[in-house]
Amino acid sequence: MRLGTPLSPSATRVMLLGAGELGKEVIIALQRLGVEVIAVDRYANAPGQQVAHRAHVINMADPRALRSLVELERPHLIVPEIEAIATDELLRIEADGLAEVIPTARAARLTMNREGIRRLAAEELGLATSRYAFADSLEQLQAAIAGGIGYPCIVKPVMSSSGKGQSTVHGPADVQAAWDYAKSGGRVDQGRVIVEEMIDFDYEITQLTVRAVGDSGAVETYFCEPIGHRQEKGDYVESWQPQPMSPVALERARDIAGKVTANLGGRGLFGVELFIKGDEVWFSEVSPRPHDTGLVTLATQVLSEFELHARAILGLPVTTALRSAGASAVIYGGMNETGIAYEGVAEALAVPNTDLRLFGKPEAFPRRRMGVALAFGNDVDDCRARAKLAASKVKPVKG
Ligand SMILES: Nc1ncnc2c1ncn2[C@@H]1O[C@H](COP(=O)(O)OP(=O)(O)OP(=O)(O)O)[C@@H](O)[C@H]1O
Ligand SMILES: [Mg+2]
Repeated sequence: MRLGTPLSPSATRVMLLGAGELGKEVIIALQRLGVEVIAVDRYANAPGQQVAHRAHVINMADPRALRSLVELERPHLIVPEIEAIATDELLRIEADGLAEVIPTARAARLTMNREGIRRLAAEELGLATSRYAFADSLEQLQAAIAGGIGYPCIVKPVMSSSGKGQSTVHGPADVQAAWDYAKSGGRVDQGRVIVEEMIDFDYEITQLTVRAVGDSGAVETYFCEPIGHRQEKGDYVESWQPQPMSPVALERARDIAGKVTANLGGRGLFGVELFIKGDEVWFSEVSPRPHDTGLVTLATQVLSEFELHARAILGLPVTTALRSAGASAVIYGGMNETGIAYEGVAEALAVPNTDLRLFGKPEAFPRRRMGVALAFGNDVDDCRARAKLAASKVKPVKG
């Protein structure tokens, strides 16, 4: 394993496909190791593009655009940060030996579609999941619910993220609206949805799992301390670490996370989403990349999830040790505006043992994540309170 000098013939080149706030932190971690980074996004001045060596704006779902950019930049590693990518082209790029896809092109393809990963987890790996069915029409959806999914249930487009197009159905009267909403919220208007039994969980976690080269020289699996989080309308609003769990639930969570990540293969960090009730654990989904709820690790771990990802993909050793407890709380745009400003930053950072990330997104929307407040300390509840307090002090205003 050797690393080169950026912007020279020896450079180790990494291309991020998607350069949002999560990609930005991965890029910073790579920059610190002297890696040459190319940040690609669908719009200019995306957060990660602001800290990369070069930036490109393309439609990453367009296979030809993706291929020509890879041929132009010749990265050693391609790191998908979002799901909406021409993943069949990634498979070809990998097969042609043009670049290594992180963690694997197959993992990127399976996880971009809820059907791929759900069938793998439930039908091939035999992991516990909510009951589920797929539907291509309102009639099929009604039949699936009546035929065993029952109420309440959740309807989601098969291709969507951050809760887009997702709704809870309490009874027959809600089904039409859920179908219409899913059709409008999907990434591509496929009109295919998954309907899932609603799991009445006590809490949900993200089990960050790292596949990295270990002492043996082979890829080994490492687990971070569990991250608890709260979601509103399918989008994360706060997270904390460690989430207290019973020993049995923790063991089951890690067993599931180990199995699903071993199947997806490759090197890198994964966010395995799990629902927990008592000692019972259900697999929900997995991201083969850093997870938004894992922003908390910027305040808690010796190596954040972003540093872990950077190290793992480069074939370097990792540690998942916790430094302290901590929490994160999201800061939203609150308005439709470009070039906004932030007031109250000093007041936020005056809250003891807190930190802040402002992502530098060029455009705000009311529910767009523009930043995150972080808190660390000994007690998770106290950290949650301070993270939320710090987040509440930051006031987005018109630039
Ligand atoms: N079957 C279910 N039972 C109970 N709650 C659920 C179920 N499915 C989803 N949820 C709730 O909705 C949240 C978002 O669901 P999910 O993770 O499937 O969507 P998403 O759009 O992929 O979100 P993200 O991309 O932000 O992870 C979950 O974290 C959970 O709180
Ligand atoms: Mg999710």
